[in-house]
Amino acid sequence: MTSRARQVEFFASLDAEEEIERPRHYPRPVRFLLEEKLRRALDLLGRVTSADALCVCGGSGMDAEWLAHRGIRPTILDLSPEALTRARSRARRHGFEVTLVRGDAARLPFSDRCFGMALVHDGLHHLDEPLCAIDEMARVARRELIVMEPARAALTRLAVALGFAVEIEPAGNVVRRLDAAEARARIQSRGWRHVRSARDLVYYQRWTFPYYQRFESGPAFSVFVLAYRLVNVAIGRWGNSVKVLARR
Ligand SMILES: C[S@@+](CC[C@H](N)C(=O)[O-])C[C@H]1O[C@@H](n2cnc3c(N)ncnc32)[C@H](O)[C@@H]1O
Repeated sequence: MTSRARQVEFFASLDAEEEIERPRHYPRPVRFLLEEKLRRALDLLGRVTSADALCVCGGSGMDAEWLAHRGIRPTILDLSPEALTRARSRARRHGFEVTLVRGDAARLPFSDRCFGMALVHDGLHHLDEPLCAIDEMARVARRELIVMEPARAALTRLAVALGFAVEIEPAGNVVRRLDAAEARARIQSRGWRHVRSARDLVYYQRWTFPYYQRFESGPAFSVFVLAYRLVNVAIGRWGNSVKVLARR
């Protein structure tokens, strides 16, 4: 079976209801961590001028929903027909419009510069060659690029060695973590002038959810947010999550 076929098979097998609603039923701190990724990426990008965006490896539509609720019209591109069906249900249920396209991130079926923005969240590490997909995103976007992926870093190597992170995911792919400098150079080589990146420490594997649930309530949640921000000011730059942002 090819790696793409394995991805399609795995993402077909996920629980539809869980995927459609994700992250609504997650503990509040986990919802915060997910939203915080996008908020931070948008902050680093500065002013967003795109009215539309392509969500590459957009899955069941969580990232598309984030964008739609910020007034950006999303298109989802994904290999998995089942993920796209779930994204359609999410959009109907939660009141936003989305365009769905089945395709491969490594060969985007779109003409040059046909979206204002291209965004990916936790998708490219499923590909054999994430940088090829970055080339494609840089080709189809006119104004802004947002890439949010696991970072290739000493900390993630340590996390793998200690069993806190995996080398091979349940979908069967090796986790191709992104090197920030490599990704920046690749985007610059495609003619993008303003390219920057940042790293953060963000960890929310399933097994952590019961621990995060202890921080649901008002004061405990505020303590969590404060601790998260302090930890990231201190050591975020060595963190496991990388954002690469670009504008032309
Ligand atoms: C971990 S999910 C992330 C989904 C979404 N971005 C999110 O954060 O909720 C990864 C997605 O990448 C898709 N995918 C994997 N390989 C792909 C490829 N070569 N082209 C397009 N999509 C792909 C999978 O079908 C899956 O929906």
